Amino acid sequence: MAKTFELETLKIRLNDAEFALLDLHQRIQRALRALIIEGALGPGLKLPATRALAKSLGIARDTVENAYGQLHRDGFIVRREGSGSYVCETVGAQLRGAARQRLKRQDSRHDAAEPGTGLSRRGRMIFDSGGVSDQQVLKAFATGLPETRSFPTDVWERLQRQAMKDYRATILLHGDPQGAAPLRKAIATYLNLERGAKCSAEQVLILSSTRQALFLCAQLLVDAGKPILLENPGYFGAKKAFETAETRVVPIDVDEQGIRTDLLQADRSGAPCVYVTPSHQYPTGATLPLERRLELIRWAAEQSKWIIEDDYDSEFHYDGLPTACVQGLDPYQRTIYLGTFSKTLYPGLRMGYMVLPQELVKPFTYARSIMDGHTPQILQLTLARFMEDGHYNAHVRAMRKLYAGRRETMLAAIGQHLGGIATALRPQGGLQIPCLLAQGWSEEKTLRQAASAGLQLSGLSRLYAGEARQQGWLLGYSSMTAHEIDTAVQRLARVLRKG
Ligand SMILES: Cc1ncc(COP(=O)(O)O)c(C=O)c1O
Repeated sequence: MAKTFELETLKIRLNDAEFALLDLHQRIQRALRALIIEGALGPGLKLPATRALAKSLGIARDTVENAYGQLHRDGFIVRREGSGSYVCETVGAQLRGAARQRLKRQDSRHDAAEPGTGLSRRGRMIFDSGGVSDQQVLKAFATGLPETRSFPTDVWERLQRQAMKDYRATILLHGDPQGAAPLRKAIATYLNLERGAKCSAEQVLILSSTRQALFLCAQLLVDAGKPILLENPGYFGAKKAFETAETRVVPIDVDEQGIRTDLLQADRSGAPCVYVTPSHQYPTGATLPLERRLELIRWAAEQSKWIIEDDYDSEFHYDGLPTACVQGLDPYQRTIYLGTFSKTLYPGLRMGYMVLPQELVKPFTYARSIMDGHTPQILQLTLARFMEDGHYNAHVRAMRKLYAGRRETMLAAIGQHLGGIATALRPQGGLQIPCLLAQGWSEEKTLRQAASAGLQLSGLSRLYAGEARQQGWLLGYSSMTAHEIDTAVQRLARVLRKG
């Protein structure tokens, strides 16, 4: 610790990049403060007189006076009439004491610099879970990624400008936490017409994503330590949302028709809800037949359970019309419907929604308002226009046709190049194809081989609770052109055959 004031130390500190944008008096004040905190200017040390320091630095005395004044007001220095300015005896010592304590604690933990320390038990669990990674760039076989390169951005931009003009300053204010009324209305109309839902705008809650919806369901419907029923195999995002809310995930097996409702009936865990993907089971692609949908609804009504219906990509159904959603078949208001624009428009939009039974609207809206207020107004109102003017339906129609063609290309490419390695299960819809590995091929090894060649495959095993019943991959195709699909599958085949 310096016994006398060293001008050079201060000059070096004044040039710190972190102070670069500050006024000169602020730079002097911050530099002196930093030196006091670090202990370079010890308790009781006499600072130069303002006139002397100003002269040494070649600046106006007022500037130094300003800096000293602020340090004095903040309690870092004391100023004695007729004697001068001194580093405060107590503040420096207290600060260094705290810093020493912290260092001591860090030393005893060895790994203190590691991320994740200092978290709650729940925080630690969330950190350990690794989150749900997102596909940031266009990559071969990326699952669930729509065609973004031909999105009508010109139309979107025009509607956004229009919305800014029409709503003026109100668009800049906080909006309704439940979501902008025009968008809620457009979504309810769309769902009732296209998805066979039965809902009003008052039941719609606009969110940033399905994942946010799942997070809210986990927080509001299931207590920590209590069970929740999930499809097995199933969507890992749902599993993570419920696990990190400290609920107990109980798997319910899926067969070639979707969730086994006989197992649901037999369940005695006491779980208050079940998460399902009835229109297009994730990952198997099965569509739940009407009989099972009705069984599901009866089970929920008789036992006062909630059905969480994730209808994530049913717009993309290629062989005939998609089946109507469970929500529209349920006269008992036991179904919570989740929808997203991540697949129908683009994932960067971050817009999803829930359709809630009346009694859940307020609790979910309050919870959402605590979380992040609401989804950006400008995006909501632009999307409402996009839907009202018919662009949404037109875009979905065009994409459905495009993806249907790409599905055929992908199936043909798999048949032609991956024979003997993997067999594709022809999906009726969706943006990815499940592929099962032939005897003698290990999922783990193929994932490693592909990764070493820069190809990222999504394995099926991780989607199972416990032991995986099937080994294979989910291959995304919707964001790739026909040429890209063929090239990528050929490349994958080459990499795997090389061993
Ligand atoms: C079954 C399922 N639900 C939901 C989502 C995610 O939707 P969002 O981007 O709105 O969170 C996905 C994404 O791939 C999904 O596969």
